Amino acid sequence: MSFLEWNDDHKVGVKEVDEQHQKLFDMLNDLHQAAVNGSEQSVLAAILDEMIDYTVYHFKTEEDLYIKYNFPGYENHKKVHDALTGQAVELQQQFRDGSATISFDLLDFLHGWLVDHTTGLDKEMGPFLNEKGVY
Ligand SMILES: [Fe+2]
Ligand SMILES: [Fe+2]
Repeated sequence: MSFLEWNDDHKVGVKEVDEQHQKLFDMLNDLHQAAVNGSEQSVLAAILDEMIDYTVYHFKTEEDLYIKYNFPGYENHKKVHDALTGQAVELQQQFRDGSATISFDLLDFLHGWLVDHTTGLDKEMGPFLNEKGVY
């Protein structure tokens, strides 16, 4: 069983977004597997970097959809994305300067974040975009 199981409850009902979420789940599973295997911090940091980059790209995809279709929750959702990005960049900095290590606590935090965000706030977009003909 993977660290993070993808299932239909995680779907928001918009293909592009669901595919990106699934990729984020895969990336976190890879990071977890590398940690379980005892990989060096530099290897873990490289995977985490890639995951953070992909998250920023993913947030942009969602925000572009919200702008394009005039989603009323845009401002709030953008604020949450910006706060998460800020946290991620701070973490990245700490790993780079060696003041923090990639731990199972961090993995648990990322696990919670990914599940909460995809099954929480992200779910709002499904019915709204579906109504606009976006699936
Ligand atoms: Fe998302
Ligand atoms: Fe989001």
